Amino acid sequence: MKVAIVGATGLVGGVLLKVLSERDFPISELILVASPRSVGKKIRYQSKEYTIQSIEAAIEAKPNIAIFSAGGGTSGKYARQFTEVGTTVIDNSSFWRMDKQVPLVVPEVNGSVLTKDDLLIANPNCSTMQMMLPLKVLHDAFGIKRLVISTYQSFTGTGVKAVQQYEAEKTGNTLSVEECAYPHPIFANCLPHCGDFDDSAYTTEEIKLVNETRKILADDSIAVTATCVRVPVFGGHSESINIEFRNEFDIKKVIQLLEGSSGIVVQDDWKKNAYPTPLQAYDKDEVFVGRIRRDKSIKNGLNIWVVSDNLRKGAATNTVQIAEYLLEHQLING
Ligand code: A2P
Repeated sequence: MKVAIVGATGLVGGVLLKVLSERDFPISELILVASPRSVGKKIRYQSKEYTIQSIEAAIEAKPNIAIFSAGGGTSGKYARQFTEVGTTVIDNSSFWRMDKQVPLVVPEVNGSVLTKDDLLIANPNCSTMQMMLPLKVLHDAFGIKRLVISTYQSFTGTGVKAVQQYEAEKTGNTLSVEECAYPHPIFANCLPHCGDFDDSAYTTEEIKLVNETRKILADDSIAVTATCVRVPVFGGHSESINIEFRNEFDIKKVIQLLEGSSGIVVQDDWKKNAYPTPLQAYDKDEVFVGRIRRDKSIKNGLNIWVVSDNLRKGAATNTVQIAEYLLEHQLING
């Protein structure tokens, strides 16, 4: 496969290269793309050095696959230019996710929606992504009526600028307002503010959780409400999820279903202080689930705690898994 990575110098771009190499993705030619200011810079992949190219040069090269992780503006402007030359685009930004023509895919959950005609495929938001694995299996078994989600999202999810702000604050340096990713300090703080506020007083990240959950689970009747919080944590996003089911359930059955699902690791032994944490989830591809317990305040209520590495399963790994799925099912021009 001739593969282009758009946003190769970014945080997710770096993890993407690592994941492609680890999984030995079949690459015959690799085209690394970043913004015009990075064109000409060098990046290593496996034992070879690659020169960053312009996005125009990458379109001209007509790759089989282009993986985008360069922000919504870049995806909005260029993704279709790639599909017009026959390239399959897997986009990590939010730009195309809610487009009715564009599938939004977590391979273990809804990979079967993909067809050969899908040249543009969206990768879900990191917070939505990780909870889809446990929620899909529980929805199929007991029917989800309502979700109340609180997230504890790593600053790494905001990209390089946020990491620079965190590092500067940690070492006591002050950055200008323009140099900061957030309107408040992120070091030793937490901000109930992920993405931008809209007119409804919710943030874009909270709205993504609502809309993307319904699209991936293909069920608009699920009620979802969320509060997303940015935390000075490295390694992964954590989520406290309160689930109200339509039907009665059994805790033992819940654990059995989660333990039997691909991509999920149950860590739930409170007597031994065993539960998932972002530090332990770092650099792993699985979604970790713990603190599984009945919510006694409502009928058919369940609480779970879900943690995953936001740069891997939440971003890079899932895009590579989509590419692998396309190859395996011969849904890609090659
Ligand atoms: P650059 O390093 O040249 O700015 P992050 O989300 O971690 O900040 O990374 C964003 C990625 O998207 C970077 O690789 C960045 O390149 C890339 N990028 C930003 N704007 C464009 C653009 N117009 N065309 C291609 N890549 C872009």
